[in-house]
Amino acid sequence: MYENDIASVLISEEQIKQRTAELAQSIAERYPVGSPEGDLLLIGVLKGAIFFMTDFARAMPIPTQMEFMAVSSYGSSTSSSGVVRILKDLDKDIAGRNVLIVEDIIDSGLTLSWLLKNLSSRNPASLEVVTLLRKPEAQKIDVEVKDVGFDIPDEFVVGYGLDYDERYRDLPYIGTLDPKVYSS
Ligand code: XMP
Ligand code: MG
Repeated sequence: MYENDIASVLISEEQIKQRTAELAQSIAERYPVGSPEGDLLLIGVLKGAIFFMTDFARAMPIPTQMEFMAVSSYGSSTSSSGVVRILKDLDKDIAGRNVLIVEDIIDSGLTLSWLLKNLSSRNPASLEVVTLLRKPEAQKIDVEVKDVGFDIPDEFVVGYGLDYDERYRDLPYIGTLDPKVYSS
């Protein structure tokens, strides 16, 4: 489909599936079913996390509920600035709930640290993060993320929800983009 634009497959469809199942199993163990906080609430960050969110929810061996938030960080199309704007807020109150943010990728960590601050001010019972991908830059900033699917090199990646100029989200794997795509 996009063969001519993709330089390499970084993470295959099969690898994503397997790692998602592992994450779901180990994370589910931390949330006892039938607790007073109710079902674990997954908050998916649009649009990048859509496929990870839906696959992760279906791999979870416990009941979960889903909410979505859309944020945009001002910056260029390939890097973020840390100035975040809410495009779509949650529909529901999260006070007293166990909340798990489901992210596609942590790069500088600025978007996530803003999101953690914003959501924790709404008084959830607990607030944690699972991200499919993490870039090396993210280790510099002080955001604690227990659950990471894959640590990847500092390259721009697309596919499985991630876009370049809104394209390539529909690729079933994570790939790197041929530099000719940026320069054209
Ligand atoms: P920060 O730097 O705030 O960035 O951690 C997080 C957001 O930046 C986007 N991002 C990417 N999007 N391929 C993408 O398609 C990438 O390699 C990439 N790196 C960062 C993404 O929106 C993420 O939520
Ligand atoms: Mg994007």
